[in-house]
Amino acid sequence: MTNYEDLFKKVIAHCKEYGFVFQSSEIYDGLSASYDYGPNGIELKNNIKDYWWKSMVNINENIVGLDAAIFMHPNTWKASGHVDAFNDPLIDNKDSKKRYRADTLIESYISKIEAKIEKDCLKAAKRFGEEFDRNKFVSTNKRVLARQIEINDLNEKIQTHISSNNLSAIKSLIEDLDIKCPVSGTSNWTDVRQFNLMFKTQIGAAKSSDLYLRPETAQGIFVNFLNVQKTSRMKIPFGVAQVGKAFRNEIIARQFIFRMREFEQMEMQFFVRPGEEMKWYEYWKNTRMKWHKSLKMGNENYRFHDHENLAHYANAASDIEFKFQFGFKELEGIHSRTEFDLKSHQKYSGKKMLYFDQEINKSYTPYVVETSIGLDRMFLAILTNSLCEEEIGNGEMRTVLKIPPLLSPIKAAILPLTKKDGMPEKARKIMKELQIDFNCHYEEKDSIGKRYRRQDAIGTPFCVTIDHQSLEDDTVTIRDRDTMVQKRVSAINIRSIITEKVNFSKYLS
Ligand code: GAP
Repeated sequence: MTNYEDLFKKVIAHCKEYGFVFQSSEIYDGLSASYDYGPNGIELKNNIKDYWWKSMVNINENIVGLDAAIFMHPNTWKASGHVDAFNDPLIDNKDSKKRYRADTLIESYISKIEAKIEKDCLKAAKRFGEEFDRNKFVSTNKRVLARQIEINDLNEKIQTHISSNNLSAIKSLIEDLDIKCPVSGTSNWTDVRQFNLMFKTQIGAAKSSDLYLRPETAQGIFVNFLNVQKTSRMKIPFGVAQVGKAFRNEIIARQFIFRMREFEQMEMQFFVRPGEEMKWYEYWKNTRMKWHKSLKMGNENYRFHDHENLAHYANAASDIEFKFQFGFKELEGIHSRTEFDLKSHQKYSGKKMLYFDQEINKSYTPYVVETSIGLDRMFLAILTNSLCEEEIGNGEMRTVLKIPPLLSPIKAAILPLTKKDGMPEKARKIMKELQIDFNCHYEEKDSIGKRYRRQDAIGTPFCVTIDHQSLEDDTVTIRDRDTMVQKRVSAINIRSIITEKVNFSKYLS
């Protein structure tokens, strides 16, 4: 097993052991690519949503929220282009009968070349020691340069073939690269064909037209554009934000909660004057990158990936990629969607989707810049980045989840040192005072060391211990998760110590 697979398995096992994520319907052997969030998982998820909502809606006067229904009129999906074009190219191996996304087979081939470049770098770093300059090495080493040219060439080919819907060229590329099925080991492939990713269903008992589970939350915002603009008296530029479930019948859903068939998106559509979209596109690219970096999960773990080949609705698009254990992958997309969606809804519904701009005395269809982040992917990014094992002296190890404290499921654990002498009563009193402001956890079972370990593994930033001295002078010890340093403080100061670490303004400024 490769190192990253090992680490990733640890994350999955940790999620289950500590009540973050469970396999859906586990007692029936599970349902592939569906997951349930446990007691700690839902707290973390809610905290991510809150942080996003505060930074997008609450601190921006010109952004408001919406919660649109998952079911929408079927014409919505004709107008948006999803009925005709929301497809993935799939291919089957005739021997193993396994199905793959044709483009991801080629992407995996590219990842292998990328891994070779990493190996070259590691070897060179060993050879040159402190003198090693990675940037210089990758831009001058002949072997690395040749590998990079091959990667660029393949990326260009995939994009061209996909955007021109040239399915036979995709198959030829797979054959030319001699890509084999990982299960059967053969290259006995079927032709490539398109597969629509929307889930279909029907409303009521009578047979009526097909209904779809929404594959993105964005369309709920577009169809409500004028409702929101008029009722909230918004002036362009303004945004509408929404958090909600989306559904895609992914051909291969894997890598735990990275690619699921039911997932949650946090999207914001920003409506601007035509011609000003590129300015706002750059603004939102930078603003969203700053948001990610505000969580201090390592600036080197993020990068932009600007798209060269664009979706039918976009005139610019970029992904914010995060370095997961399986490589840099898309975490959020920023798209300049032009006026495509509003114009198309106007055409299909027959209703005007125009905005009258008083400043310039003109009506127009606004252009849209979208930010779209997957909540589950953000959850996974946080988990994989935070989980570590460290030595804490005497050969003892601890597992600790160094989650940004603002997002930790539990902010403080309240722990009476023993179950007697009035310590539990005192601890419960402190718990009562704190739990209105913070999610706290009371625990009196097990040794104090074991209780600390459990809270470390959940990512609780503070453990407050009530001991004999607490009963005499109203002090407690407060232990910091990351440094493990314990300080004795007056009980009345606990609230301000926790607030100092977990308040929004600390992150948002
Ligand atoms: N409205 C634009 C849109 O939906 P997208 O790039 O298809 O754009 C946006 O999706 C984000 O949603 C992605 O960056 C990713 O974080 C998340 N996402 C997409 N498909 C997903 C899936 N199958 N499972 C989990 N998250 C997914």
